[in-house]
Amino acid sequence: MLAILGGSGLTSFAELEIERREVVRTPYGEPSGPITIGRLAGNRVVFLPRHGYGHTIPPHDINYRANIWALKQVGCTSIVAVASVGGIRSDLNPGMIVLLDQIVDYSWGRASTYFDSPELPVTHIDFTIPFDTSLRQHLKTAAREAGQTIIDGAVYACMQGPRLETAAEINRLERDGADVVGMTLMPEASLARELEIPYAALAVIVNHGAGRGDSRLAISTSQITQTLENTRTIVRLVLIHAAKLVPQTSSK
Ligand code: HPA
Repeated sequence: MLAILGGSGLTSFAELEIERREVVRTPYGEPSGPITIGRLAGNRVVFLPRHGYGHTIPPHDINYRANIWALKQVGCTSIVAVASVGGIRSDLNPGMIVLLDQIVDYSWGRASTYFDSPELPVTHIDFTIPFDTSLRQHLKTAAREAGQTIIDGAVYACMQGPRLETAAEINRLERDGADVVGMTLMPEASLARELEIPYAALAVIVNHGAGRGDSRLAISTSQITQTLENTRTIVRLVLIHAAKLVPQTSSK
């Protein structure tokens, strides 16, 4: 079953025919809310907004471990994450949707592993390719079938937030090889890998990174809201097609 982990622009999903909501308890505490189980154009999916249904949980306070654990518990076999980001690479502008392919993690102080109990042996997961190749392929096909353009490949820098970056920080991220910047995909992506759930992410560019383009002097939050509004339909269309393409059961 496909899970959609919604970000700032996706706290509800009008096209989702809701069948039930499940409150899931996990050994790591509460997820961001009850898990919504329903159908998108007839295909069963699960939906969870990582900031909560009322968009009240900031990036550093999200219980990433509980969210991913709860999705596994209800039977999710793949996760498509949606996140809003700032654009760093010069060809990436607000309104574009990017299928991420790499991550640089600058977040700190977040509970970031399931392998931290004294009973477990020291475990190092492979994370060379952080996003699942076949799920990415399904998303590319979904975008094509939905008639929408998505940019294939970008390096995501995960910052701690909740403040936005300084212009110098954005310059540094660019030197480090980052193309876009956000605050939420880590440790989400690595936790999904720890539980062996294929994970891929669509990033919606909602602003130029600090100091760039029309964010030269400041990032406009009203621009962010407007861009999220403008891109909502595109993201939903891609997800509806993805729900049809992504296998209902795990290939593992
Ligand atoms: N920086 C970090 N996170 C973000 C941004 C940004 O510019 N825009 C949306 N999420």
